[in-house]
Amino acid sequence: MSAIEAGRHVVMESCREVPVAAASPSKAVAAADGDLKAKLFMLASPLRAGLRRQSPEDMPKESPKEMPKEQELTVNCVAADAAVAASVPAPVTLNTGVSLRADAPAFVPGRKDADDKPARPPVVSVRRMPAKGCAIVLLRDKAVLELSVSMRVAVVDGVCVEVRKHTRKREQAGETATDEPEGVFVAWGHRVARKVDISEEGLEAYFNGLSTLDWPSGLALQRPFEEHIQSFLMSSGSPMPLNTSPKSDEAVAAKMLEGIHGRPELVRELWEAKEQLDDLWNKPPPPLGRSLMQRVARDQLFPHSGKEGEKHENRAGEKLEELSKAVGLLEGVPVGAAFLDLCGGPGAWSQFLLAKPELAMRGFGLTLRSGSGDAADWQAEEKDDWYADLIQNPNWSALWGADGTGDLLKHQNLEHSAQALKKQGGVFLCLADGGFSDKAIPANLLELYFYRLFLAELLTSVSVLQPGGRFVCKLYTACSDAMASLLFLTTRMFDHVEIVKPMSSRVAGPERYLFASGFRAGMETETIRAAMVRSHQQGNGASPLQVPLLTPLIASADLATDKVFTQQFQAMVSRLLERQAGALRALVSRALKLEDIALAAAEKAQAGAGKWAVAAAAQREAATAARREAEEEAWNNTPTPARSTDWTDRRSRGTRDHGTLSHSGYGSRYGNNSRSGYASRNAGDYSRRSAVLPRALAFQ
Ligand SMILES: C[S@@+](CC[C@H](N)C(=O)[O-])C[C@H]1O[C@@H](n2cnc3c(N)ncnc32)[C@H](O)[C@@H]1O
Repeated sequence: MSAIEAGRHVVMESCREVPVAAASPSKAVAAADGDLKAKLFMLASPLRAGLRRQSPEDMPKESPKEMPKEQELTVNCVAADAAVAASVPAPVTLNTGVSLRADAPAFVPGRKDADDKPARPPVVSVRRMPAKGCAIVLLRDKAVLELSVSMRVAVVDGVCVEVRKHTRKREQAGETATDEPEGVFVAWGHRVARKVDISEEGLEAYFNGLSTLDWPSGLALQRPFEEHIQSFLMSSGSPMPLNTSPKSDEAVAAKMLEGIHGRPELVRELWEAKEQLDDLWNKPPPPLGRSLMQRVARDQLFPHSGKEGEKHENRAGEKLEELSKAVGLLEGVPVGAAFLDLCGGPGAWSQFLLAKPELAMRGFGLTLRSGSGDAADWQAEEKDDWYADLIQNPNWSALWGADGTGDLLKHQNLEHSAQALKKQGGVFLCLADGGFSDKAIPANLLELYFYRLFLAELLTSVSVLQPGGRFVCKLYTACSDAMASLLFLTTRMFDHVEIVKPMSSRVAGPERYLFASGFRAGMETETIRAAMVRSHQQGNGASPLQVPLLTPLIASADLATDKVFTQQFQAMVSRLLERQAGALRALVSRALKLEDIALAAAEKAQAGAGKWAVAAAAQREAATAARREAEEEAWNNTPTPARSTDWTDRRSRGTRDHGTLSHSGYGSRYGNNSRSGYASRNAGDYSRRSAVLPRALAFQ
């Protein structure tokens, strides 16, 4: 196939193909680089002359009798060029490494393929939606489509993009809609789009250039483990002495390393793996939008992990649904039961429970009011405020505690809400999803800064649950003995205790859930509750940033004497640490691999795109011409009074309005009158213009 070929077909907005003439030789000149450019320039005038002079009798013998008009032009070009090419010294080497001889047909714009098929570029059209940060690229070359989709990511104009198969429903009269894959959906996202734009030329050149690529190695996935819901039963033998004088404690790394879990090396490995991910996050561009590589890596390795909710208003709802199925949370719940949604804003969990008409539940919610607290405190944001439909739901009420802030770390708020609920008979379900942004917390110490909130949630639940009631609570890692103590105490107050990590919870994240059922309302529970109250009061309502940790409710030495609990706790901690660290390492390595493959492909595609430059330019030219013709026709058929007085103005507006399916953006980019300027710029300058990779390469 020739390095520079004239396009002979164009696809209009409707994707209907219409024949057009070969690209003009002047554009072929612009397509050339260096020496080749000069040589092709020599071709230009005789070629034009040839087009005018050639008669059908001069056509080569092999040309079919019923040759369509556009092919006639091509063949005439071949004949004309053959004569001119003979005068050009051979050989000429393109930067693609293709060696061209003067007598080689590959040298001739408009040459037919050896198999006699018209040479058309892989890309049919590019439809960009810049504000949304995405584009649809229609492709006629199935191999390019498969390759780009298998690679899943690309770097275009120095920006990381995701590539997926695009399917669209085409309804034809009398036929049912069919899903017909015709191209690819390319996304870089509206956030990236606010900072940087990706050009149509860049996209077109990338996908055209892909046709010259071999299938890259390294696309096959290597998962560190299969995705499964993780579940760990927890139980204990007998009660333990309780800490009756709790104090504030230092939230330092040692608290996570030195615990009854006995696996400090696993904690360190996790931290190292997190550091690798942080390094990747902090790596400056290029390419821009690198976080996409991490997201795609996660999608590929762990497709269930961290999935955005489709059925729920946020991801929390997704996780509760999965958890609920796994542990049978709603099985046997009495009709009309009450629930409490703790730290529940904005409220996907309440929505999930209220959407069970067969249970006809009544709900209460308590969450930190946005903007409450001192400036130095961690602040809930407006996005955390309850959803409007909950506030309006007659079966659901918000509780705000004694001071109206909804802050569960303030003991008077906890008591106030607990009293209100006890007055109306308590609740059968208590769910707690408290959490705050990691950014506010020193690295790796989230669990320690979360301790007081977990204490408050557990204390609230055992203050309001009806006997036999159930408790769900989000946890982070649980390496410290302070967390181990609370888990131990949970096993004392509930018949059944389980730690569950649903697949929808990020596999590389620290999150997991406690599920406890069969609440035991009795003496032991009351004693534990009293100890928890003392501990909670010790926090004195301070923000977790000011008073993160308290001394454990059970001494470590005592805890270690319960062999059953210690073994179960160790198994849970080490398994989840190993999986989290393994997932992080796999994500980093996959993201780097994807980036390497994408950058190498962009570079090669850039080199390969020149092969299609002239054909692509001709295709665009023809699309523009056809569109204008259609517009003019429509205009001519428009009744006179409806016409604007300024045709040029209307036409340019019309072009913009119709531009989404084609390349109208070029018009504004290069000036309305510079069609040929645009074409020449794009036809021949692939190696120099700032499309495909230049920015990416400049990054090296
Ligand atoms: C992950 S969100 C809960 C999402 C919720 N389950 C849903 O389905 O939409 C964590 C919530 O905990 C709340 N929170 C954090 N600290 C709190 C505190 N001290 N008291 C009450 N709520 C708190 C946050 O404001 C936030 O709304």
